[in-house]
Amino acid sequence: MKEQIDLLSQEVFSFSSNKEEEIESWRVKMLGKKGTITALFNQFREMSPDLKREWGKPLNALKVAAQEKINSLKINLESNDSAASGLDLSRPANFSNLGSRHPVNLVKNEIVGIFKRIGFNLSEGPEVEDDWHNFSALNFPEEHPARDMQDTFFVGKEPDWALRTHTSSVQVRVMENQKPPIRTISPGRVFRNEAISARSHCFFHQIEGLYIDEGVSFADLKQTLLFFAQEFFGPDTKIRLRPSYFPFTEPSAEMDVYWGLNNERDYRMTKGTGWLEVLGCGMVDPNVLENNGIDSTKYSGYAFGIGVERIALHRFQIPDIRLLFENDLNFLDQFKAAY
Ligand code: PHE
Repeated sequence: MKEQIDLLSQEVFSFSSNKEEEIESWRVKMLGKKGTITALFNQFREMSPDLKREWGKPLNALKVAAQEKINSLKINLESNDSAASGLDLSRPANFSNLGSRHPVNLVKNEIVGIFKRIGFNLSEGPEVEDDWHNFSALNFPEEHPARDMQDTFFVGKEPDWALRTHTSSVQVRVMENQKPPIRTISPGRVFRNEAISARSHCFFHQIEGLYIDEGVSFADLKQTLLFFAQEFFGPDTKIRLRPSYFPFTEPSAEMDVYWGLNNERDYRMTKGTGWLEVLGCGMVDPNVLENNGIDSTKYSGYAFGIGVERIALHRFQIPDIRLLFENDLNFLDQFKAAY
């Protein structure tokens, strides 16, 4: 008996296989009805009580060892299977991909934050506007080319409803509902029927500013804009105001920020001037105040409209405005660490 048990223990110890059929036939050979270990148990049953006492334990240990060997080989088999199918249960889980703020929003939030610090509140208006709020109340003459089908997306057949072409429409809505002093900024999306290119898109974002009170002067406008430029672009930033024209402001100007002309990229960014155009502005035309029931002999005000994309392109050195609206995750993921 001892010899047989030793021999079989050896075999149990040394047996190995990674094939299911081999393990199964080995199990039958050892523990099946006619298996070698089963045969020993049959002998055992015929033994005298003394012998039984002697061989019970080692025989049982042999059976358990064989059973355990089969179990562990089967477990190996399963994990090999899952490795082969590409599933590795021991790998750490994938992190879910966190989103990031859109570059246009990053810039918008920063600009809004600057004006909030100096007492501007936030206002918003609808993206679909009527002729009055987008044009007429803002002193656009009937025949003004900006009303032309080429610039404006009209909604429906009547050319009265349109997608707003600028956030200046929100100025009108604020003046309708509030009495001076008014100090507000209105960020939002605007639409123009223009050819899409690397530099312009048919929709983009503006931030409108409006300040109306007694005795507001052009000097106030200039100082506020200088403050904004130095907060946003850095304390040494220089600005210049170029005379311009808008129907709703008089006098009107466009503001440039000095960008520099140190390398080829600066040349490209600034069209060789070193100056970057960032906004339109001016003193609110008295007609606009009167159109909205504000006494223009008592009150004056200034307004400005900042182009958000233009600033975002420069801040992040983005070469093409279209990248901002493609929602390509490879592009957007780059702004995770921006702020
Ligand atoms: N609404 C003008 C534009 O779309 C910008 C502007 C706003 C100019 C306010 C003057 C005052 O270009």
